[in-house]
Amino acid sequence: MAEQPYYVTTPIYYVNDKPHIGHAYTTLACDVLARFHRLDGDDVHFLTGTDEHGQKVEKSAQAAGVDPQVFTDEVSQNFRRLAADMNYSNDDFIRTTEPRHIHACQALWRAIRDNGHIYLGSYAGWYAVRDEAFYTESELTKDEQGNKVAPSGAEVEWVEEPSYFFDLSKWQQPLLDFYDANPDFIGPDTRRNEVISFVSGGLHDLSVSRTSFKWGIPVPDDPDHIMYVWLDALNNYQTAVGYPDTESALYSKYWPADLHMVGKDILRFHAIYWPAFLMAAGLAPPKRVYAHGWLLNRGEKMSKSLGNVVTAGDLVERYGLDPVRYYLMREVPFGQDGYISHESMVGRINGDLANDLGNLAQRVLSMINKNCDARIPQPQPLKPDDTAILAAAAEVLSTVREEFERQAFHRALEAIWKVVGDANRYIDAQAPWKLRKTDPDRMATVLYALADVIRHLAILVQPVMPDAASSMLDQLGVPADRRSFSELGSGHAVAPGTELPKPSPVFPRFIEEDSAA
Ligand code: ME8
Ligand code: MG
Repeated sequence: MAEQPYYVTTPIYYVNDKPHIGHAYTTLACDVLARFHRLDGDDVHFLTGTDEHGQKVEKSAQAAGVDPQVFTDEVSQNFRRLAADMNYSNDDFIRTTEPRHIHACQALWRAIRDNGHIYLGSYAGWYAVRDEAFYTESELTKDEQGNKVAPSGAEVEWVEEPSYFFDLSKWQQPLLDFYDANPDFIGPDTRRNEVISFVSGGLHDLSVSRTSFKWGIPVPDDPDHIMYVWLDALNNYQTAVGYPDTESALYSKYWPADLHMVGKDILRFHAIYWPAFLMAAGLAPPKRVYAHGWLLNRGEKMSKSLGNVVTAGDLVERYGLDPVRYYLMREVPFGQDGYISHESMVGRINGDLANDLGNLAQRVLSMINKNCDARIPQPQPLKPDDTAILAAAAEVLSTVREEFERQAFHRALEAIWKVVGDANRYIDAQAPWKLRKTDPDRMATVLYALADVIRHLAILVQPVMPDAASSMLDQLGVPADRRSFSELGSGHAVAPGTELPKPSPVFPRFIEEDSAA
């Protein structure tokens, strides 16, 4: 079968401050999908980057006392470092201050304008710099001090200035028709319903340029205006695959994107504005936008603007990279809000990883090392119990694939861990340590079956824990080019006689230290 293209993107993050665990979480989810699709034989393009224009970034640069370009050059590096520290496999890292992007945004503007969907007027209304969003009077609420605030809690200011408008109001019906024709466009379903009900309530034309500050992309043919930062930012997804060259190899292969992964805070921009801009320009909207929930810290969304942050680096230093990657994808049902805590982290590390998977692998590998001359043993004909556990390990891929298709990472891992549980029950029932004396041939068969079950499990967990999985596969003597999902199943089993290195535990237990508290 020909390779299928798969284009997945993260939001591009504001460089107003350092990255925190919320950003790490979104990009991790995309990394897991990118790795999954590569192992599944797809031709993947995985994009992340930074959103560098707008008033919010300009103000942060001013506060730091530096020129915005110097500021963004500096702070953007923090997000590149995050990508390296978290072992993300992104194919590109885009910055909105790059020439390729400025060029792409001006082309998109012209396309929308030339199709008659942009007009000059003047804006008088509320703006929240923290959200970089316009709000109507009726959307505002009051904070504890009685000040008007955005629904997100962000401070708002009154803005009056000349502005270009995008005729968003005309896109209500085309958008509703689009959602109807593409039921998978927005996930999860609860979010899809929210968007449909918002759009059904009617849309206002959208201010798409600003004149009261300078840090942005100049509007073509009217340099007094800079583009609204969200029009600029959203278009990064096209820039990175070669827009405006829609005939280019990258664009024709990867556009429309398969998935824009976002947090629920920015769904409106991605599920309403973005498809409307694209349709207005005569371009195809993305295939899917998935809005996940928030990681919470004492009940509040962790955020750079609020300052209550945990960094990915803090967690990785304390618990290790792959355990953190596993925990983030397993603990909070993806899509929902949830808390992260030391207790639940240690529970997952010592339970799922050390006891369940780690111990299984370590027991099997050490028995092979001690009792089978450190080689994959030669099996006797398999018994039904052996073929059953091997079949369970091979068949779980179809469940995992379905769950990943709808971004249910926690369920995919649950399905894999069900096989881990079955394998632990199998080893206890077969008790190869007893067979060593009573029936060494049967011991060899059981250890052979278990080695191949562990091979399956290690191949399957690669997207989430690439380093740990690779260490397990090394210990099983599986060559680097025999680790894709096409190697699952009995036709590609571990080869008897393969010499194995001395085993070493992959998932150590987390030991509490009094000083760590
Ligand atoms: O909104 N829990 O950038 P941003 C989970 N530049 N995810 C979180 C999170 C949390 N507590 N906090 C942040 C922007 N995120 C725009 C995007 S895209 C064209 C432009 C994640 O730096 C989540 O993905 O504010 C959220 O949507 C994103 O970071 C917002 O990042
Ligand atoms: Mg934000």
